[in-house]
Amino acid sequence: MNVNQLRRVPLVAKWPVTPCRNASSKAPRPPKPSPKISKPVAIKRRQVTAPRQHYQERPSPQGTQGETANAETTAKPGHGIPPRALTFLGMTALTISTYCGYLYASYTREVSKAQTLDVPRDVSDRYNTTAATFDADVELSEKAMGLGKKRRDLVRQARGNVLEVSCGTGRNLPFYELGERRGLDADGHATVLGCRSVTFVDLSPQMVAITNEKFEKLYPTFPATFRACDAGKVEPPSDIARSGAKTKEGPVYFDTVVQTMGLCSMPDPVATLRHLGSVTEPGSGRILLLEHGRSYYDWLNRILDNLAPAHADRHGCWWNRDIGDIVRESGLEIVEEKRWHLGTTWRYVLKPKQSTGKSQS
Ligand SMILES: C[S@@+](CC[C@H](N)C(=O)[O-])C[C@H]1O[C@@H](n2cnc3c(N)ncnc32)[C@H](O)[C@@H]1O
Repeated sequence: MNVNQLRRVPLVAKWPVTPCRNASSKAPRPPKPSPKISKPVAIKRRQVTAPRQHYQERPSPQGTQGETANAETTAKPGHGIPPRALTFLGMTALTISTYCGYLYASYTREVSKAQTLDVPRDVSDRYNTTAATFDADVELSEKAMGLGKKRRDLVRQARGNVLEVSCGTGRNLPFYELGERRGLDADGHATVLGCRSVTFVDLSPQMVAITNEKFEKLYPTFPATFRACDAGKVEPPSDIARSGAKTKEGPVYFDTVVQTMGLCSMPDPVATLRHLGSVTEPGSGRILLLEHGRSYYDWLNRILDNLAPAHADRHGCWWNRDIGDIVRESGLEIVEEKRWHLGTTWRYVLKPKQSTGKSQS
């Protein structure tokens, strides 16, 4: 076989896998392979590495050569996640873990600080200084928790002569139905709905002043009473209209007592509830509560317990109280009980036990 004959031998047959460079440097260089010949060579080389086969199978509009170039430039490890997505995921994971680390560090710092504090049980004076910023402070978290609707659902049950204790800055004001009207109760029976009179009470004069101001803007013609006094000592004003045949000659009672987020702030919540029971109309009167306190879950209660002294010292609120225990200890009768937000938000409809009347308090 002479040199010319050699040149005519197809490359594929003689060099099935890879051409030998040493040999080719000594032997005369074979003619430049035509595209038809180079194609199987290229395929055989790619068959050696498994991941490239994956890309090779994708249809390419540029044909085999384009496919090869595409495989060279975009070949990725077998997971198929684009590098940008991987970078994004990595950055997100890093951010989240950094933030969690920061939260954990702040939590442990706060816990150790909280344990060294000597906080009195009565922290209710804190509201005198936080009254001006109270609404702004709680607005966002209340929105996030949907508390506006829970307040509305509770307060629109108020009827007759109404007392709201621990009224704060009057966050329940928009939900009162002022003025009596005939309507149907939840069971479809004819009844009188709406408020005949409203009395607002808070221990903090600064807080009750804000309620007063808001009320006058919202309901300029409806008369209401505002008092800075202890919910545990409040008495029905002697001039409120009597609401039922049963009370015509006896003591005057409130038909509805409302309290939202108040049990956390008072030094003796059980005694206060008992007193409220004693000023509520014994038969049809109701005490409506929306409170926050302990959760269903131990892990969350541990966090509440650990941070409670610092929170109480700053905000005037013991957020780790067991509202259920307080209600049961008060001796009031539970008409309805509901909980939300991992059990930390509590709603109660209570009524005085038949033996709990003003005369016995
Ligand atoms: C967390 S704030 C709640 C305010 C309002 N009820 C609300 O839902 O936004 C607690 C309020 O209870 C009041 N408070 C604390 N102890 C009280 C007491 N013994 N009698 C009346 N109000 C009291 C505080 O002054 C404060 O305004």
